[in-house]
Amino acid sequence: MTTIRPSEPADVEGMFDVVNAAAVAYKGVIPADRWHEPYMPRDELQHEIEAGVAFWVAEEDGRLLGIMGIQDRGDVALVRHAYVAPNLQRKGVGTMLLHHVQALVNKPVLIGTWADASWAIAFYRRNGFLLVPDEIKNALLRKYWSIPARQVETSVVLADGRWMKDHGSAPSAG
Ligand SMILES: CC(C)(COP(=O)(O)OP(=O)(O)OC[C@H]1O[C@@H](n2cnc3c(N)ncnc32)[C@H](O)[C@@H]1OP(=O)(O)O)[C@@H](O)C(=O)NCCC(=O)NCCS
Repeated sequence: MTTIRPSEPADVEGMFDVVNAAAVAYKGVIPADRWHEPYMPRDELQHEIEAGVAFWVAEEDGRLLGIMGIQDRGDVALVRHAYVAPNLQRKGVGTMLLHHVQALVNKPVLIGTWADASWAIAFYRRNGFLLVPDEIKNALLRKYWSIPARQVETSVVLADGRWMKDHGSAPSAG
């Protein structure tokens, strides 16, 4: 049975492996100047934990299947760093993690991802998120995320129904 639990310090090595195996999907898809290997070095993962990203892991028989983080940013919560081991994708693990972290917060939820990661956008849309219009997304990325300007340009933001309702925002067709 798959269980979802908070990550522990002892998980960091397994999390590092899952993130960087899954992130290979970005290679050749996201802008070349944003790709590096490993995609998320250990110190960056550690920095994200210290910066308040609460990571949850999906586990089965002691094996780490996937991870997802949720970060409180005041009036919104961000879903951060969603990764499922490549051979276990499209089996519902990501959806389990997403439902779990969404249920932890009682505020609008935003997600940022690469504009070219069509599969990730499909995953979030399938789970009820909508693309925020282009003219708003850069301001959101600058306000709530700490990412380089180049990543702002090349990313999109998806929002849950609550954020869309609060902002009277018509979703983007993209
Ligand atoms: C995005 C991700 C976390 C989703 O987790 P998952 O366990 O694969 O997702 P689920 O099984 O719960 O949902 C599957 C749905 O997600 C979308 N999806 C996931 N992987 C996909 C792929 N390779 N191609 C197209 N759609 C995909 C589809 O809508 C799919 O539904 P379908 O199989 O009926 O077409 C996972 O695929 C992953 O780690 N991808 C690589 C890293 C990444 O892009 N992370 C997102 C960071 S924001």
